[in-house]
Amino acid sequence: MQIFVFLGAPGAGKGTAAAGIAQKTAALHISTGAMLREALKKGTPAGLAAKSYMDKGALVPDQVLVDMIGELLAAADPDSVFLFDGFPRNESQAVQLDKLAEQFNANVKAAICLDVPEATLLKRLGGRRVCPVCGAGYHVESLPPKREGICDVCGVPLATRADDKPETIRHRLEVYGEQTAPLIAWYEKTGKLRRVDGSGEADATVEKVLSAMNG
Ligand code: AP5
Repeated sequence: MQIFVFLGAPGAGKGTAAAGIAQKTAALHISTGAMLREALKKGTPAGLAAKSYMDKGALVPDQVLVDMIGELLAAADPDSVFLFDGFPRNESQAVQLDKLAEQFNANVKAAICLDVPEATLLKRLGGRRVCPVCGAGYHVESLPPKREGICDVCGVPLATRADDKPETIRHRLEVYGEQTAPLIAWYEKTGKLRRVDGSGEADATVEKVLSAMNG
């Protein structure tokens, strides 16, 4: 099993890049944010426990995430290649990931960090729209649906993510700076860090990430 960790601030394009790579390769895109939102939609205990943290833009307690990732790896095919979008999010989760990787004979191959200026992050998060049914992501300017405000796949009205309100975005960026950005230095020390300029168009970023993964 191989694991690629995607680092980057909210709006850096982790989800968009990971989804693009999953379309072109056999790798599996695993978004812990999407898993938590799905758990909340289903009303599971983990989803309900996560809600108040997600609404504020705070990190959900580590053990909830470590248990989710542990269950995923325990059930995975040994040949799987995972793109972890949003996990780990702090040093404690990174240590736990290394332990899980050892337990399930997986290898954390590289940590890909998408670098994007803050003004671009704010523009991306402010214009993001999502389909409440299939989860497809759009952007009002850079990735608009064919019919304004309507999902191309499901035909239902698009929604704004609950944590994309301006005040919650600000808090998410602070949490990223305090708790997640230190992982950049953490992975640099292990020799696994690959930095990628994520400020260009989505297709170009996918190509750059693919070559960083292979480099
Ligand atoms: P999560 O869903 O992971 O949110 P995030 O990290 O804040 O990241 P985003 O999804 O906002 O951004 P992204 O980098 O994926 O950008 P995207 O590709 O969508 O987590 C949500 C919450 O869940 C957290 O706040 C926390 O509470 C909880 N959580 C999750 N994991 C956790 C963990 N491990 N531990 C604890 N708590 C956890 O792009 C954004 C927009 O920009 C889109 O509209 C897109 O179309 C557009 N766009 C993307 N790339 C480009 C591009 N290259 N050019 C133009 N537009 C682009």
